[in-house]
Amino acid sequence: MARQFLSAVTILLLVALSSVAQPKGINDFNVSTAREKLLLDFGWRFHLGDAASPEKDFDYGIMESLAKAEVASGPARPDFNDSTWRTVNLPHDWAVELPFVDVNDKTVNDHGYKPLGREFPSTSIGWYRRMFTIPRNDEKNRIVVRFDGVFRDCKVWFNGFFLGEHLSGYSDFDFDVTDYANFGGKNVLVVRVNATQAEGWFYEGAGIYRHAWLIEYAPLHVPLYGTYTASTVENDFKSATVNIQTQMFNQQYQQVNCRLVSVLLDEKGQEVGKRSSDVSQMNQYEKKKFEQRIEVANPHLWSLQDPYLYRVVQFLKSNGKVVDRTTTTIGIRTVRFDKDKGFFLNGKHVEIQGVCCHQDHAGVGTALPDGLQYFRIMKLKEMGCNAYRTSHNPPTPELLDVCDSVGMLVLDENRLMGSTPEITDGFKRLILRDRNHPSVIAWSIGNEEWAIENSEIGARVAQTLKRVQREYDPSRLCTAAADNGDQFEGVNSVVDIRGENYIERVKDYDEYHREHPDQPMWGTEESSAYCTRGVYETDTAKGYVTDYDVNYPWWGTTAEIWWNIYAPRPFLTGGFVWTGFDYRGEPTPYRWPDINSNFGIMDMCGFPKNSFYYYQSWWSNKNVLHIFPHWNWAGKEGQPIDVWCFSNCDSVELFLNGKSLGKKVLVQNSHLEWKVNYEPGTLEAHGWRNGKMLTDKEEKAGSPVAIKLTPDRDSIRADGEDVSLVTVTVVDSQGREIPTADNRIYFTAEGKGEIIGAGNGNPSSHEPDKYLEGNYQRMLFNGKCEVILLSSRHRGKIDLMALGDSLKSATITITTMPSKLIPIVE
Ligand code: GAL
Repeated sequence: MARQFLSAVTILLLVALSSVAQPKGINDFNVSTAREKLLLDFGWRFHLGDAASPEKDFDYGIMESLAKAEVASGPARPDFNDSTWRTVNLPHDWAVELPFVDVNDKTVNDHGYKPLGREFPSTSIGWYRRMFTIPRNDEKNRIVVRFDGVFRDCKVWFNGFFLGEHLSGYSDFDFDVTDYANFGGKNVLVVRVNATQAEGWFYEGAGIYRHAWLIEYAPLHVPLYGTYTASTVENDFKSATVNIQTQMFNQQYQQVNCRLVSVLLDEKGQEVGKRSSDVSQMNQYEKKKFEQRIEVANPHLWSLQDPYLYRVVQFLKSNGKVVDRTTTTIGIRTVRFDKDKGFFLNGKHVEIQGVCCHQDHAGVGTALPDGLQYFRIMKLKEMGCNAYRTSHNPPTPELLDVCDSVGMLVLDENRLMGSTPEITDGFKRLILRDRNHPSVIAWSIGNEEWAIENSEIGARVAQTLKRVQREYDPSRLCTAAADNGDQFEGVNSVVDIRGENYIERVKDYDEYHREHPDQPMWGTEESSAYCTRGVYETDTAKGYVTDYDVNYPWWGTTAEIWWNIYAPRPFLTGGFVWTGFDYRGEPTPYRWPDINSNFGIMDMCGFPKNSFYYYQSWWSNKNVLHIFPHWNWAGKEGQPIDVWCFSNCDSVELFLNGKSLGKKVLVQNSHLEWKVNYEPGTLEAHGWRNGKMLTDKEEKAGSPVAIKLTPDRDSIRADGEDVSLVTVTVVDSQGREIPTADNRIYFTAEGKGEIIGAGNGNPSSHEPDKYLEGNYQRMLFNGKCEVILLSSRHRGKIDLMALGDSLKSATITITTMPSKLIPIVE
């Protein structure tokens, strides 16, 4: 395959793991096979179409496209001239590039006020084209194109042949294009994406917003997701067995013999065990399943603190020659839900301290580079979060790779509940794709399916989905995120683990547990408290809610209320907060000018709101002392200000300008409050935890004099997928950050990378996330904004320059480091 090299696509650890180590004595590791997985992200041509005008949609729908093989029209024709189309790289979300529109339409509002849908035909269709060559000597191989996620309803052509369509924006899909391939010449892949019809009630983006791949392998091969591993641990964790089920496919008109060799490698690449199957005859187009077991003495278990990963490397041999080789990353661990005591990982109790998340971020919409997945999961870990619910859809694969490699449990969720092939296939695909990830601890078959969840029909549908789940992954249990309180009939009677969305709807949870003593329970969705980062006075016109833990909708509670229900009750297992981060759409409690939700513990950029520190106090083992609000209240001298403290200290004493305002004892899982009459100066807290004194202070800052740039990482991988997230603040003459600043800052970047988006966490900001021409600008919101720098595929440096009126400018340099290269399609 013609290619150039690109550095690794996922985070560092994964990159290390994806390289096939070469243990001594296994010559098969040195043999090259036809298998290649090439990233198809770069150099697409893109143009908006039109759902209402055939002319603006390149005559789509009025000329033949589906009538005969290799008869296509418009952009689907291989010789279509796309030279005037824009060049884009994947992942790409065109919705985030569109302006906001203030219309009173529920779907538009739910989706972040972007012009998508029936009323916006000229911005709801997107065409993508990509041309590439396939070398003549690949003629004997199978060629597959795969998409990890396209939002949504897309039709795909290859060399003028209609390949098929895919409806859901969340499941992956692929096409074997071998029969249509032009070996030794040009090939054209075309995708028409129709984002008119939404799926969710939250921002979903538009376009090819996850990776695309070109995959190649020999006719005798392990098909996609053909390897399934599940481990059992015995002998008080002193030994383990890795059970490996492998599918083999002889996709050719010729009988062959084959032998499967599976090798288990530890993180250093040392061989732990090896199994070789007998030689087996494979008929033309025959599929066969092989079962193997590898025993592991003293297994190094996968855990949250030590997410140790093994690899299963498999060789498929025919006539003694290796024809295919695959690698599956796995972890050895046990997972158990106990009806009375909660969740156990490797036999040890773990309270589920989780969050639900949607998949968009400031600046980029749903098109997150891999490095951004890493950033988000690490922010959650910093808070003490140990579990992530992929509400309400299959996640991008790289998110699970990060969770495996850094230690984060995952509740992996299906999109739509149903039992017809269209829907069960999506669920099946999710299980096949994700079942080898040690981070995944359970499957969610659906969320709040109000119409059916209490009914007999709901029970039947749930039974079908549970059967599918058991067929493809008997090693895990299933749950459903249900918001029907005490209701046990219907879906809840079928699932293994009772999922409670908003447990306050249950009249008496202890009584419920007594009545249904055999079903483990957990809080699949809790709280839905809303607040706006850094806001201390609710402003309905601007759409801001205060950043104290006091605001929630009728179905939710504060952080403190829900956690105090779960923490003392082991049978409730713990739960998932709605949500880890703000997300576009579903603006709550207000609508326009709000364009995003306020539910996040962090804002759209990942900047912590105050409740971050509530959770950190009681979820992490860090020493936490956090007082708020800031202390810049000119004009409010003498007026009472609510001062709160989130901390895990035993007691805290507050001082204003050196004078004690009293020492208070902190009850576990709660917070402290004072009313303090404002006087400028310094508010300081002293806290004592296990005999150690901690301090935190807020002080009145001066006027802004300079810009300050703080990257989350100052060296990133030079792979076109890694990012540095730069926090932008302004400081006074003494270098103190100004928490109320709202200056407009202008940005340019030079060198081996570019700015791909900016945000500030303001739920009512209508500033663009993207400046396609490159010169970015953004206002600070309550003292902060964020700029996202994406590396190029070249090592070197990226200089980020920031300018602002009457402010000292700032420059930082990010190094782009060489990293392991993976191939891309040229
Ligand atoms: C839940 C729902 C979520 C979100 C949330 C807002 O009922 O599952 O998707 O809408 O409410 O509080």
